Amino acid sequence: MTDHDGLVAQAASLLDGQTDLVANAANLSSLLFHALDDVNWAGFYFLKDEELIVGPFHGRPACVVIPLGRGVCGTAAETRKVQRIADIHAFDGHIACDVASRSEIVVPLIKDGNLLGVLDLDSPVIGRFGPDDEKLLLEVAAVFLNSLG
Ligand code: SME
Repeated sequence: MTDHDGLVAQAASLLDGQTDLVANAANLSSLLFHALDDVNWAGFYFLKDEELIVGPFHGRPACVVIPLGRGVCGTAAETRKVQRIADIHAFDGHIACDVASRSEIVVPLIKDGNLLGVLDLDSPVIGRFGPDDEKLLLEVAAVFLNSLG
C-alpha cells in the first residue's frame, strides 16, 4: 500500500520553487509511476489547438494525438470530470495504447477556468483505481497546477 499523504508531500517538495510545465510534468510522471503499484503508464496530455497532445510520461510509447471527446482522456477533457474506469474494455471508444492496460483513471487539469490537459494513469489490473486513488491524483494535480504560478 502506498502512503498517499506521503506521496502528495513528496510531489510538493519535488516541485517546490519549480514553475516549468514540462519539468514538473516529467518529475510527477516518474514519481507516480514508481510509487504506485500496478501502474503501467503515468503521464500527461496537454491541450493544443483543441486536441490533446502527449506530454511527459513514464511507460510504453503512447498515442500522440487524442481528439476532445475521444477515448477516456478526451472524455475527461471534454466533460472536465474525472474518469475512473474499472474495465477499459467496457468503455466505448477507449484508445488502446498498451494492450496490457485494463483499467484507467484520468484527471482533467483546469487552471483559472481553462483546460490545460489531463493527468492519465493506466493499470494492467482490472479495477485498480479506487476513490482513494482519485483523491490522491486530484491532490497531485492541484500540486502541479499550483506549481505553474
Ligand atoms: N487509453 C487512453 C489513451 C491514452 S493511453 O492510455 C496512454 C484513452 O482512451 O484516452
